[in-house]
Amino acid sequence: MARAGWHSERVSRRDFDPAALGSQMYPLLNSVVVPRPIAWVTTRSDQGVDNLAPHSYFTISSIEPPVVQFTSVGHKDSLRNAVATGEFVVSLCPEHLQEQVNLTATDFPADTSEYDAVGLTREPSARVAPCRVAESPLALECRVVGTREFGGASTVVFGEVVWVALDEDVLRNGRPDIDLLRPLARLGGNQWSTIGQVSEHRRVPFSELPS
Ligand SMILES: Cc1cc2nc3c(=O)[nH]c(=O)nc-3n(C[C@H](O)[C@H](O)[C@H](O)COP(=O)(O)O)c2cc1C
Repeated sequence: MARAGWHSERVSRRDFDPAALGSQMYPLLNSVVVPRPIAWVTTRSDQGVDNLAPHSYFTISSIEPPVVQFTSVGHKDSLRNAVATGEFVVSLCPEHLQEQVNLTATDFPADTSEYDAVGLTREPSARVAPCRVAESPLALECRVVGTREFGGASTVVFGEVVWVALDEDVLRNGRPDIDLLRPLARLGGNQWSTIGQVSEHRRVPFSELPS
C-alpha cells in the first residue's frame, strides 16, 4: 500500500518469458542487472601461468565467514585454475586501467599470461599463490570454498576472503574512499560505466515514517 506523499504511477509493461527467449535471456539479464562491479580474477595454472580475466558476475556471498563469488560462463581458464588449485585473487578494476582490463578479456591461449601480454605487474600475495595486480588498489585473496554449476554452462565459484590488501592512497580516515578507488562497472553489451554522483542516505527506521 502506498503511503501518503509517495509517488505511484502505472507503467506499460512488456513481458518476457525466459523459456521463449532462449539465448536472448543472456543479453537481457546483462542489460538490466546493472551496474556490475568487475572482479579482476587472478589464478595460477598447474603449469605456473598467471592468468588474469575480468568477471562482472561478481558479488559478496557471505560476511561471516567473508565469502565472495564470481561466475564463469563457460569453462574458462579462471574457472579451471581456481577449481584445480583452490585459490584466486580478486583485484579491483580502477578507471585508469580500463584498457588493460578489457585486454585481459582477450581469449589468449592458456599458456600465455595476461600479465605479460598486457604489461601488468605481479605483486606477491600474502596468503595464496596467485599474485595481485600491483597497479590495482585492492586485492582480495581467496580460497575456494565451493562451486555451484547451473545448466552445465555457468559455474559460480565461492571464495573465502583470507586476506585483504588496500593501497594506502585510497584510504581516507582508515577506510576505502569511493572517490579514490574509482572502480569501473559493467553494463549491458559492451557498455561500461564509472561511479557517478555519490550521495549519502541514512536508513529510516519504521518509527520515523510518515503515517
Ligand atoms: C568487463 C568484462 C566482464 C566480464 N565478465 C565475465 C563474467 O562475469 N563471466 C565470464 O565468464 N566472462 C566474463 N567476461 C569475459 C571473460 O573475461 C573472457 O571470456 C576471458 O577471456 C576469460 O579468460 P580466462 O579464459 O583466462 O578465464 C567479461 C569480460 C569483460 C570485458
